[in-house]
Amino acid sequence: MSTCVEQVEHEQPATPAAWDTLRRKLSTLRAEQTRFGSRSALRLIADRIGGKLLKLKVVHVVWLDVNDVSVSAASYPDFTFRFLSAEEIARFAEDPAYDLEPEMADRAADGRNFCFAALDGDRLAAYGWYARDWIEPEHCDGFGLRMPPEVVYMYKGFTHPDYRGKRLHGAVMGLALRDFAADRVRALISTVEWTNDASLKSCARLGYRQLGLLARARVFGRTWWRAGAKTRERGVEIITPGAAKSAKLTIV
Ligand SMILES: CC(C)(COP(=O)(O)OP(=O)(O)OC[C@H]1O[C@@H](n2cnc3c(N)ncnc32)[C@H](O)[C@@H]1OP(=O)(O)O)[C@@H](O)C(=O)NCCC(=O)NCCS
Repeated sequence: MSTCVEQVEHEQPATPAAWDTLRRKLSTLRAEQTRFGSRSALRLIADRIGGKLLKLKVVHVVWLDVNDVSVSAASYPDFTFRFLSAEEIARFAEDPAYDLEPEMADRAADGRNFCFAALDGDRLAAYGWYARDWIEPEHCDGFGLRMPPEVVYMYKGFTHPDYRGKRLHGAVMGLALRDFAADRVRALISTVEWTNDASLKSCARLGYRQLGLLARARVFGRTWWRAGAKTRERGVEIITPGAAKSAKLTIV
């Protein structure tokens, strides 16, 4: 099951040879360096090595206040923005290009999870998922969150490859937040992998603030985790799986 943030490796014909695997990884690294610079490429190396050796997971916690949203649907005349029904999600899930697992239709029917989308006619151009009250670790990079009623967790944002680069990811989030605001929601919270520069760029452009990092690793068989000092006082609890008792943190 995918979380909000993923980075897609450049696809090459799969062969079992270690040499081809190395070439594929180098090509991903070169693409990262060309698009986002050397620091991003180094971060990607650290992430991959840390992930292999220590099961390292590092994410940015980002926060979007409804007052900071300036996007408007009028800037996207070719698209319709709205929540999708469970039936629509089941239908879109039949096409693997949309990266939607069939069980996501059940989530949309549970009354706590919502999918907000940009539609180009009957094509799904972009979407994002939104959870109220709490979110399971598998949808939050391994960190469970419990939110107050005025905060919604955003996850599993996706723009179909044919529509990437049109700022739809940000538009979907901003307009979803506006719709939620009618129900007294004042902010979105989300997590973005520290290596996902495309998503971080998109978030920054929309007005998200970075609240700090959440990190987790396995050191000598024990789970070590850390939340940045700024991740306090926003009424959000972070529950780390694997800890003997759940830890309560608040996000600044
Ligand atoms: C991350 C993602 C949601 C961005 O969607 P988007 O609607 O294209 O967002 P934007 O138009 O704001 O583009 C953001 C950045 O993506 C990169 N981008 C642009 N066109 C792209 C393309 N055709 N292919 C890949 N990345 C592209 C650019 O770096 C762009 O920033 P820039 O225009 O300032 O250089 C999308 O790339 C995606 O679905 N990726 C796979 C799933 C994922 O990572 N989801 C993250 C969810 S939180």
